Amino acid sequence: MDKLLVHGGTSLSGSINISGSKNASLPILAAALLTDQQVVIERVPDVSDTNYMLQILSALGCEVERYSGTVKITAAEIRPEAPYEIVRKMRASICVMGPLVARLGRASVSIPGGCVIGDRPIDLHLKGLQAIGANIDTEGGNILIEAKEGLKGQEVDLSGKHGPTVLGTDNLLMAAVLTEGITVIESAACEPEVVDLANFLISMGAKIEGAGTRRITIQGVTSLGGTHHTVIPDRIEAGTFMVAGAIASRSGITLNRIRQDQLTGATEKLTEAGHLVKFNRTGDSVTVTQGDSPSGCSITTAPHPGFPTDMQAQFTAMFATTPGISVIEDTIFPQRFMHCAELTRMGADISVDNGTAVVHGINQLSAAPVMASDLRASAALVLAGLKAKGTTEINRLYHIDRGYEMIDEKLLQLGAKVERTRGSV
Ligand code: EPZ
Repeated sequence: MDKLLVHGGTSLSGSINISGSKNASLPILAAALLTDQQVVIERVPDVSDTNYMLQILSALGCEVERYSGTVKITAAEIRPEAPYEIVRKMRASICVMGPLVARLGRASVSIPGGCVIGDRPIDLHLKGLQAIGANIDTEGGNILIEAKEGLKGQEVDLSGKHGPTVLGTDNLLMAAVLTEGITVIESAACEPEVVDLANFLISMGAKIEGAGTRRITIQGVTSLGGTHHTVIPDRIEAGTFMVAGAIASRSGITLNRIRQDQLTGATEKLTEAGHLVKFNRTGDSVTVTQGDSPSGCSITTAPHPGFPTDMQAQFTAMFATTPGISVIEDTIFPQRFMHCAELTRMGADISVDNGTAVVHGINQLSAAPVMASDLRASAALVLAGLKAKGTTEINRLYHIDRGYEMIDEKLLQLGAKVERTRGSV
């Protein structure tokens, strides 16, 4: 397995282009199942998660073509069974359920396993589909969904104990667009990726109002057509590199092809911590520079438009060497602190208890061999290595390759001293 060697201490500079959003691409690729016409989707990042989704679509019978960031999909003749051996690799595969049951009246998808960031239930996904008439059963580790009497629009509240569900909202949204009558999703997720999916569906002929708010109304149609869509920028990749600028750039790094309105959480907290964040006039480029006297601050994650849980590990890495005390609470995934044990191996002073990490900033981390565990925790370790004394060795790089397109190339372009090598673990 690959590993990344990060030689710390270099000040970053220069600029990179941010890729298209992985988390917008995954449900949009699944939504191709809703039509027998060809869809063309641009700016799909070439990462293992999107490639897993394309493998699943092929296994379901879709014609799939990919060249660079452009994907062409035609779901003319499709099957309702998603293959276990691919689905088990990626939890987001669950978002083929909605389109399959809407298009075919049934679906069989393996129950996703848990993962290191915590319990990943799908009760809200099933609640939404049952509400519009799907019958749910489980057999041999698979979820069997069937709409024996067809689907019928209903009003459904999708809130859970940790708030809205992003992919749960996506699943119901994709089922509802071909469901007779009006479906209303209350407590819907408002993430930009949900809005991008809704825009994709609308361009196919779906009738959707309220995407981006807590209440989405869908008027079912009988069929959808093909379309051509460009995926929004990846706000989490952008946020990750903004933190890289705050940690390790005295002259500033510039990130292009971003959207300012999607980066408010990271911008506010970097500014509060004393770093410089400057957007260009059109809001599609941002320059981040390490502040002269940064200080710790507190973060509590929340559903969009709150601070994204997908950004807390990266900020924890930054706070590890920020003077003062920082408190990071993750209300969405209270167990999402795998990175803290690895940062502690690098000398960080972090205590984690009951979904909250308390960080006492130290002067400098020291490099160590560390283990990537999940996508964002792994990115946090790379960020920590940028300023650590010595060479940090990050093993199991496949975790990062799931959601960061060519992260080593981008870091090299910013002047970081990193190298990808073959690892033994
Ligand atoms: C999406 O996952 C993202 N993944 C995650 O990003 C992100 O962390 C998460 O949303 C929260 O923003 C993709 O978009 C592919 P949820 P999702 O359903 O939709 C609970 C990354 O790093 N819940 O919004 O699976 C759940 O346990 C990934 O790119 C239920 O209780 O997350 C959590 O506490 C990691 N029942 C909360 O809701 C359910 O049926 C939010 O989860 C579903 C979820």
